Amino acid sequence: MNPAPIAVALDAPDLETAARWATLVTPHVSTVKVGLELYLRYGPDVVASVRGASGVQVFLDLKLHDIPATVAGAARAVARLKPAYLTVHATGGSAMIRAAAEAAPNTKIAAVTVLTSLADGDLTSVGLAGPAPDAVRRLSSLAVEAGAQALVCSPMEAAAVRAEVGPDVTLITPGVRPTGAATQDQARVATPEEALSSGADLLVIGRPITAAPDPGAAAAGIAASLRRTRGIA
Ligand code: C5P
Repeated sequence: MNPAPIAVALDAPDLETAARWATLVTPHVSTVKVGLELYLRYGPDVVASVRGASGVQVFLDLKLHDIPATVAGAARAVARLKPAYLTVHATGGSAMIRAAAEAAPNTKIAAVTVLTSLADGDLTSVGLAGPAPDAVRRLSSLAVEAGAQALVCSPMEAAAVRAEVGPDVTLITPGVRPTGAATQDQARVATPEEALSSGADLLVIGRPITAAPDPGAAAAGIAASLRRTRGIA
């Protein structure tokens, strides 16, 4: 049985917890996501700790944003960890995205378009022409032309982004909540089934799995419901 197209966000307070969550969920999901907090606290070794012996894909969510030469150096530095995905900010521009893609040829560079924490007023204040959906579409096509093979967007934007960039780009969507799950600090959420049907390829899901009493069972449950959606149960 193929693991489900889910990246479990390992937003853990310590390495032991992150590694335990990874062990519990890897039989059921394709990917685990390591964010800035864990990476900055424990360094590159965190990748081997969460990958374990399972060979699960690692999504390194470092959201790089700097001049092209510096981002190239950073991407080269983490390429040896063999992450399946590495995030960069699309607002770093074409040359920066291209530099990352060339420096880590075996990793999919995933461009973050507009942070979902930014409202239209925030876009104006940082000088980014909105409204947000227009900025997302513009930055998506810029990123893909520059060599990004994946984009991070909200499930609400996935259909429009898909129409903009075509079928070959991997769309990664956070803000996913199974029916009945607490939304926590996510304002606009979609169920896993809705996210897939709007064109997402990989669903980032954190607390609905990691805060469950049994993260393995929670991951297995969401994976089974996705298989039913796709009619391959
Ligand atoms: O626990 P939850 O499912 O909300 O975790 C979602 C993960 O996706 C977190 O690691 C969060 O930082 C990340 N993320 C997000 N919204 C974005 C980009 C990343 O929630 N726009």
